[in-house]
Amino acid sequence: MGSPSALASLPSFPSPRLDLTPAILIEFLWEIGTRANSKKISRKFISNRVFSPFFSHERPFPNTRKWPTCRPTLSRSVFCYNPSVDVVGLHPSMGAAPEVNMSVTSRTGNGKITVPDILQRKFPVGEFENQTQRITCLTAYDYPTARLLDESGVDILLVGDSLGMVVLGYDNTLPVTLDEMLHHVRAVRRGASRALIVADMPFGTFHVSPEETVRHALRLVKDGAEAVKLEGGEKRMEAIARLVESEIPVMAHIGLTPQSVLELGGFRVQGKSVESAERLMRDARAVEAAGAFSVVLESVPRELAARITQELRIPTIGIGAGPDCDGQVLVFHDLVGLSVNGTPKFARQYVNIGEQISRAAREYCDDVRNGRFPSDAESFHAQQWPAEPRKTQIH
Ligand code: KIV
Repeated sequence: MGSPSALASLPSFPSPRLDLTPAILIEFLWEIGTRANSKKISRKFISNRVFSPFFSHERPFPNTRKWPTCRPTLSRSVFCYNPSVDVVGLHPSMGAAPEVNMSVTSRTGNGKITVPDILQRKFPVGEFENQTQRITCLTAYDYPTARLLDESGVDILLVGDSLGMVVLGYDNTLPVTLDEMLHHVRAVRRGASRALIVADMPFGTFHVSPEETVRHALRLVKDGAEAVKLEGGEKRMEAIARLVESEIPVMAHIGLTPQSVLELGGFRVQGKSVESAERLMRDARAVEAAGAFSVVLESVPRELAARITQELRIPTIGIGAGPDCDGQVLVFHDLVGLSVNGTPKFARQYVNIGEQISRAAREYCDDVRNGRFPSDAESFHAQQWPAEPRKTQIH
C-alpha cells in the first residue's frame, strides 16, 4: 500500500454547521495529535469506533458537501467521514483498494476464487494486467444447484436472503432468520469448491449492535461463508468496518435494498432524481471507505451505476443496474424460469425449467394413473420367486 503523506494537509476544523458534540471535538483533537502515523490512527479510531473524516487525501468530488458527515452509531460514538474526499487505500483496515493487505483467504493457486481475486478483477496485476474480466455471480440455496453452478464456472455463489421469497414462499425477505440462512449456507458449501461463497446477513442481524453483528457474521463464516453481504450505505459504515476489522470480508448492497421494503413502501428503482442519485453516490463511497470489497447496485439507472463504477476502486456488481458494472448478479430462479411469482424486467430467463418441471410432473401422474410407470425394466426382480404379477385393483 502506498504510504500517504499524513502530514501533508492539516485537518480542517469541524464545520460550525455540524452539531459540535464533545465526541466530534475529541475526535478532531485526536486526529491532530496522531496524524503522523496513518496506520496508528486507523487502529486507534477503529478500536474506539470513531472514524475520522480528515485523514484522507483530497480528491474533489462534484456536487457533494465539503464538510464531513457525522452520524451517531449503534455503539453511541460518532462516525464521521467526508463524502467529498477519497479515503480508500490509505488505511489498512478501512480502505479496500486492491493494494490493501486484507486479512482474507489468500490466492490458493488451485483455481479457487478468493476475495483478492474479486478485487483484482477491477485492477488486474502481473500477467493478467490487461485482462479485466467481468465478475459473474448467481444466487444458490442448495447443494445440487451450488454444484452445477460451481462446475459451470460462476465466480461467486450468493446465498441471498431472496431465499425467503423464491424458496420459502415469504412475501418479502424480512422474515428470513439467521438459522434459515445457516441451513442453506451449509448446503451450498457442500456443493461448491471453486466459487467464492457470500452469504446475506438477514434482516435484524446487523441492526442492534456492532458486537451482535460480528457474532452473527461469524456464525455464517463458521458454516461456510467466505464473505457476508449486508444492505445499506452510509448508515452501515460502522457495521462494515467492524466486520472487516474482524477478518470478515463484506460485500455491500445499495440502491434498492429489499430489506428496506417497509421504509420504501415497495420495490422501486432508486437514484432517479438528482438528490437520490447523490445520496447513492455517497452510499457507494461510504461502503468503500468502510472496507467493503465489492458492492451490489440494485435497481438503479444505468448512467448512475456507470458513474459509481467509474468512481469506485472496488468492483460493482449490478442487478438491474445496466451493463457497465464490473460484474452482474441474478437470482438463480429468474435465470432458469423457476420464479413462480414472475420475473423482473431486468432479469433474463435463459431456460424455462419451471415449465419443464410442470410438464414432467403432469406426465408422471398420467403414467402412474395409467399403469405405465414403473415399467418392468424399472422394477427389481427376485430370482427364486416366480414372476407372477400381483393383481391389484385399480380404482
Ligand atoms: O438476496 C439476494 O438474492 C440478493 C441479490 C438480489 C443481490 O440480494
